[in-house]
Amino acid sequence: MTDAAPSASSPDQSIAEAVTGGMPAAVADLGALVRIPSVSWPAFDPAFVAQSADAVAELLRGTGVFDRVEVTRAQKAGFPEGELGHPAVLATRAARNGKPTVLLYAHHDVQPPGDEASWQTKPFEPTVVGDRLYGRGAADDKAGVVSHVAAIRALAETTAAAGEELELGLAVFIEGEEEHGSHSFVNFLEDNRDALAADVIIVADSDNWDTETPNLTVALRGACAFNLTVSTLGHASHSGMWGGAAPDAMLATIKLLSTLWDENGSVAVPGLTSHEAETPAFEEAELAASVAFVDGVRAIGSGSVLSRLWFQPSITVTGIDAPSIANASNTLVPKVTVRISMRVAPGQTSAEARDALVRHLEASAPFGASLEFHDFEGGDPFLVDTSGWAVEAVKQAMADAWGKAPVEAGIGGSIPFIADLVRVFPEAQILVTGVEDPDTRAHSPNESLHLGVFKRAILSEALLLSRLNQRS
Ligand code: BES
Ligand code: MN
Ligand code: MN
Repeated sequence: MTDAAPSASSPDQSIAEAVTGGMPAAVADLGALVRIPSVSWPAFDPAFVAQSADAVAELLRGTGVFDRVEVTRAQKAGFPEGELGHPAVLATRAARNGKPTVLLYAHHDVQPPGDEASWQTKPFEPTVVGDRLYGRGAADDKAGVVSHVAAIRALAETTAAAGEELELGLAVFIEGEEEHGSHSFVNFLEDNRDALAADVIIVADSDNWDTETPNLTVALRGACAFNLTVSTLGHASHSGMWGGAAPDAMLATIKLLSTLWDENGSVAVPGLTSHEAETPAFEEAELAASVAFVDGVRAIGSGSVLSRLWFQPSITVTGIDAPSIANASNTLVPKVTVRISMRVAPGQTSAEARDALVRHLEASAPFGASLEFHDFEGGDPFLVDTSGWAVEAVKQAMADAWGKAPVEAGIGGSIPFIADLVRVFPEAQILVTGVEDPDTRAHSPNESLHLGVFKRAILSEALLLSRLNQRS
């Protein structure tokens, strides 16, 4: 033997090689999940959510590291006995030798495709264009699901290649109804408390600063949504005969909704609170470019742009049931239903914010209009405690994987699961990561994943898991 043995490569290097080698499989597995239209909303076939849960369970079984992988459902809180939530996937392996246990979270359900004509590719046909993969759920959050799978594969492969045993404890929880209010989550938590217990929780369902700069998400707004039906008349009537004296529901609705904002577009509902904290610089011009302001449009609200998005409440009317223009006969509309979607600032619970908004609407109903509230959804905001050792560890892993330190960022969106979970496991350290970037367009037509971000997110997580596996 003349050749010197190749110098043993470092664990980090082996992880990096395993992640690179695993990328084609990760992209293919993600594509297969995107093909399953697992929309968790009531008007969509729940069989696809079940199919996607089974597909995720197969991916987790395929890693070979779990003692147990199952697809389970739990009773929806506040619903009739026997009404179960959508199937979730739960996989566990016990820690060995006093190593930590990490819980990995993502969700396999997706939002509805929306206006199909606005999609440039088919929503449930994964399509790579340039460095992006297009499709509903390609980012939010099937890429989160596959990033966990790919990181575990890299970890399993490198420990096996080094002749070592994987000692890290792992639990994976892949939810099936995050996009529809997580109604069974609290009961799921009760049913599976032991399986979900962990030292560190990684939630891969958030954003990044840009495609070259990772985020560690440290603040999330809460959510509260409901339908409001405004009625003024028992039936429709001719608008020429009665208009001007009889109040139609459209008039009442428009006047009522207009009380929700001041002339700046800031929310004007007494009792809704804001959170006070510094925010990084972000110009209105960047906002305008990100969401494609039409010429002449100005931003709404006040305070720094990011404080408006991260730390102040917002209210959006996201849908309206009223006669369509095709059916717009000259009548007084008797009844209008709107969907109101509110974002709740950190520091206030979703229930407190809901009560403040309902009180305000009831006090503001014009002409004695009758208001009916239904189909409530909600989730609390969350501020991450960044003082733990796991936060240092994930920041280092991100910096190594991306070649750039992460931004500690808030997001305006909500992940209701987090506050519930941390209430039950207050000592767990929570790390909110993700695969999205500012061009992802989650929930919208032409949702996409940046494949470079996908790889860097997988590498960050694999490095972190590998280092935790070595931690005593
Ligand atoms: N992944 C998002 C949360 C998110 C939004 C992360 C924006 C990063 C940027 C999550 O899937 C989501 O959409 N949550 C819902 C929760 C709602 C149904 C209670 C949301 O924010 O609308
Ligand atoms: Mn998501
Ligand atoms: Mn979402």
